[in-house]
Amino acid sequence: MDLSERLDQINKSNITRRNFIENSIKGIGAAVASSALISIVNSCGGYNSNPTSPQNSGGSSVTLDISTSQYSALQNVGGTAATGANSLDPQGLLLYRESQSAIKAYSRQCTHQQCTVGAFQNGISTCPCHGSQYNTSGSVVTGPAPSPLRSYITKLDGNMLTISPS
Ligand code: FES
Repeated sequence: MDLSERLDQINKSNITRRNFIENSIKGIGAAVASSALISIVNSCGGYNSNPTSPQNSGGSSVTLDISTSQYSALQNVGGTAATGANSLDPQGLLLYRESQSAIKAYSRQCTHQQCTVGAFQNGISTCPCHGSQYNTSGSVVTGPAPSPLRSYITKLDGNMLTISPS
């Protein structure tokens, strides 16, 4: 092999090495980019996929007809009812007929780690995750929940109950 053939071989080998390094860097870049994308997608997961996510901020108002069978207990003072997810609160609402003219509404989101609390049973709502309990005022009667349930603004007009963000 003469000198020019040897130089040619070295050049080809450098190009191959450069290509290898360039391709490796591109591969690492792609891996980092896809890992970041997966993190972003995961952080946008469905509601309550992360039980320690911040308390929800409340959506748009909802109106319920308390003459329907689902809410008929609210016809009487002291009656309670619960709803599922809705446009105001994705974890649903706890409702309590406080007086002839007023119905209280609370989020079902537990203030401990955001699990969905159960419907009122004998005036007490219990969280299935760690046992916190709330009364019909939304106050904590048994921890570890650190604070009362979020309450919403309500307006009762005949049988129509409108519940709005506070
Ligand atoms: S999330 Fe409700 S008691 Fe822990």
